[in-house]
Amino acid sequence: MSEFAEIILDGKSFKLPIFTGSEGEKSIDITSLRAETGYVTLDSGYKNTGSTKSAITFLDGEKGILRYRGYSIEELAEKSTFLEVAYLLINGELPAKAELDHFTTRIRRHTLVNEDMRKIFDGFPVNAHPMGVMAALASAMATFYPGSIDPNRSPEAIDLTITRLLAKMPTLATWAYKNSLGHPVNYPKNSLGYCANFLHMMFALPVEDYEVDPDVEKALDTLLILHADHEQNCSASTVRLAGSSQVSLYSAVSAGISSLWGPLHGGANQQVIEMLEKIKEDGGGSKKWLDKAKDKDDPFRLMGFGHRVYKNFDPRAKIIKVACDKVLNKLGINDPALDIAKELEEAALSDEYFVERKLYPNVDFYSGIIYRALGIPTDMFTVMFALGRLPGWIAQWKEMRGEGQPIGRPRQIYVGEQLRSYVNIDKR
Ligand code: ACO
Repeated sequence: MSEFAEIILDGKSFKLPIFTGSEGEKSIDITSLRAETGYVTLDSGYKNTGSTKSAITFLDGEKGILRYRGYSIEELAEKSTFLEVAYLLINGELPAKAELDHFTTRIRRHTLVNEDMRKIFDGFPVNAHPMGVMAALASAMATFYPGSIDPNRSPEAIDLTITRLLAKMPTLATWAYKNSLGHPVNYPKNSLGYCANFLHMMFALPVEDYEVDPDVEKALDTLLILHADHEQNCSASTVRLAGSSQVSLYSAVSAGISSLWGPLHGGANQQVIEMLEKIKEDGGGSKKWLDKAKDKDDPFRLMGFGHRVYKNFDPRAKIIKVACDKVLNKLGINDPALDIAKELEEAALSDEYFVERKLYPNVDFYSGIIYRALGIPTDMFTVMFALGRLPGWIAQWKEMRGEGQPIGRPRQIYVGEQLRSYVNIDKR
């Protein structure tokens, strides 16, 4: 097998090394292309660009495979816990019991948030979208922990930042929610597990008892596992790019949260439920909506459908669909949105337009229905995604920094005006 790709430019041949990943993925290393030939590659949206080598997550979009550190998502969702998966992603290996205990205990000890951060909430409007609040607060954390700003921070300081992020983001997320209701916030209860603590802070009220339902806790834990990483997606790439300037990890994560918020990325989970509601209000049925999605003059897209990488099925969507049925059955909830979603999926999967373009339900298609069944309000859906994705962002940042990757700085092909002379305003 050739170790080089040959490229002929202006009649001259150049050899570029081939690099093959551990799952046989082939790439052409173009690092020296510009220096040798004067050419750069052009790839809008990075549809065909490997931005890094990575040992964290493997996915095969044709076969519908997703693995964290070599472990299949199906097995992790069934047998593991979110904090164990977080440890795996961040440290590379599954933890021994003592390691997991240490990791978990440290996170529990850092769940409290500096009281001064609470004052920041007063500055947001009551109806502030919690993703905007989360992005602002993640960035604000760098000001509370200035040690994180030092580009020469020690491994211990990095570890502390990672612990603080994992511990405090759920507290801040629930406070954003409580604030939007005008309710008093709940402080973390460290006798509870990670997800139970989150549910307590979300739903406990000073006026009545609240007990965490173990089925709800388990379902939430599984959802977080399914969202924990997804290799070089839009938000992870944002975290890497922002982090490559050696900014604090808090700020890099804040950039990731902003990137995730968009409707074409994590924001799709909110859009899906709003779309299903709209379809319900309109009397149901799939034909009208599929026709709208197919109409190029109509901005409507079938939210929760399609994926840049998955061209067969999204394995997370498969697991979530089954979990969705299970949770709704267990909780005795009959959500018409689920029936509409299933009808839409069935119709789309047999429609030529969607089949031809290999458009399948993605992770966001069913997740909103579960979140809603768990009592999570719609505008918190993307926040749930962010909480799940946090270990992935951290792992991607840590890998990038650990390997001393250079600052991310793409090239462009300039297509604007050539040099022209300034014309005074009275002569224009
Ligand atoms: N509804 C209707 N048509 C669609 C949809 C959709 N949901 N998704 C893609 N298409 C069509 C496009 O119009 C395009 O058609 P064309 O070839 O005739 O022009 C073709 O399928 C390819 O789509 P692109 O937008 O070029 O694919 P890309 O890889 O750039 O986008 C994306 C992927 C953003 C996920 C897209 O499928 C989409 O907008 N989906 C809806 C939003 C969504 O669910 N986002 C969540 C993704 S998962 C995640 O981020 C966690």
